[in-house]
Amino acid sequence: MSNRFTKSMARNIFYGGAVFFFLLFVALTFDTHGKLPQRDHRENITEKVARGKMVWEENDCIGCHTLLGEGAYFAPELGNVYKRFGNNKAAIIAFIKSRPPQGVEGRRSMPQFNLSDEDLDALAEFLKWTSEIDTADWPPNVQG
Ligand code: HEC
Repeated sequence: MSNRFTKSMARNIFYGGAVFFFLLFVALTFDTHGKLPQRDHRENITEKVARGKMVWEENDCIGCHTLLGEGAYFAPELGNVYKRFGNNKAAIIAFIKSRPPQGVEGRRSMPQFNLSDEDLDALAEFLKWTSEIDTADWPPNVQG
């Protein structure tokens, strides 16, 4: 009984398993990289979208928000905000521009950034582009 499961069997399972899963990992990595160009629709990165990303970074929006799950958990996920706002850039711009409700008990508030109209439009364009990335349904619920 004690000889049925030998050391060499254990070694073979270990090496076999390691090789199998390493090859699986390599295959899935190639698969993902093959599909990314269609999923991230990078051909639609216009100058405005790129500028919106700059404005996003310069104002540290990610210090409070998540974008496609990455970032801080203080404020709502914004990867899908364009869709949540009814596919409406103007609504996003209006929200950021209006001084959102401040000092409401139990409600977190967003600062006023006093962005130029151009920067606001670029930001909205960036959030629109982000919402159109095929994320395989991430985040799993509408609020992120
Ligand atoms: C200090 C934290 C903070 C920063 C920095 C911040 N926000 Fe916000 N943001 C919030 C909070 C809190 C809310 C929710 C406000 C509310 O519901 O009244 C919000 C809401 C929003 C909304 C509406 C989201 C929704 O689902 O209702 C948008 C769009 C938005 N922020 C965009 C931005 C952009 C763009 C930037 C960078 C220029 C930014 N935010 C930076 C805290 C922040």
